[in-house]
Amino acid sequence: MFSCFTLRSVLLLAATCLLLTAVVDSAEQVTTCDWYPLSIHRLYCEHGVISVDQALYGRTSALLCADGNPPQHLANLQCARQGTVDNLKTNCNGKTSCELIMEDFRTPDPCAGTVKYLQTNFTCLPAITVVACESSEAHLYCELGRTILVYGADYGRRDRTTCTYRRPLSQIENTECLHPTDIVSRRCDGKTSCKITASNAVFGDPCKGTYKYLEVAYTCT
Ligand SMILES: *[C@@H]1O[C@H](CO)[C@@H](O)[C@H](O)[C@H]1NC(C)=O
Repeated sequence: MFSCFTLRSVLLLAATCLLLTAVVDSAEQVTTCDWYPLSIHRLYCEHGVISVDQALYGRTSALLCADGNPPQHLANLQCARQGTVDNLKTNCNGKTSCELIMEDFRTPDPCAGTVKYLQTNFTCLPAITVVACESSEAHLYCELGRTILVYGADYGRRDRTTCTYRRPLSQIENTECLHPTDIVSRRCDGKTSCKITASNAVFGDPCKGTYKYLEVAYTCT
């Protein structure tokens, strides 16, 4: 699970254990049967961050999520909901984990009468992630001799669990506030360490009234 050997690429998981940890790209797949509207489709990277490759909500396999269902509900193998992969990318790329509720995929129904599932193929990219709540500073750093390369940064809010301490619901309920930014990349790429404040003064205010946070995924090269 958590091996502390030096293999192909090495990254310093400073916040976790200050040990050199082996990290290589890993291909992952998660399938969630759409049997219950409240089922959660959860992607998770033990190391690094999620990069979604493919996603399907519908049915193209006769075998997946079939048990117990009559054949007429499994016969359509050309069912795919439009926009599914974009939805997954928007919500999950650059994060260590993400959770989506099946209910949100059900309408409009791409093939009524067919039992569907949500399947995502993704890669875990070696990366260090930093989250700084609004008004706090994000610190990015690499070992001496290596430099920061930012994969992506977002100043906004996309869940109700990050940076919520003592915040009223009204400030954390808007989870549609995506605001990818290249400011972190412009300021930090090529440096050994870098500090940047998660604030409207630096990034602008993409959603007024919402308490935001800065998420950064980067690597050391
Ligand atoms: C995920 O990858 C597998 C193996 O390559 C493939 O059979 C499957 O169709 C892929 N799933 C999606 C949603 O594209």
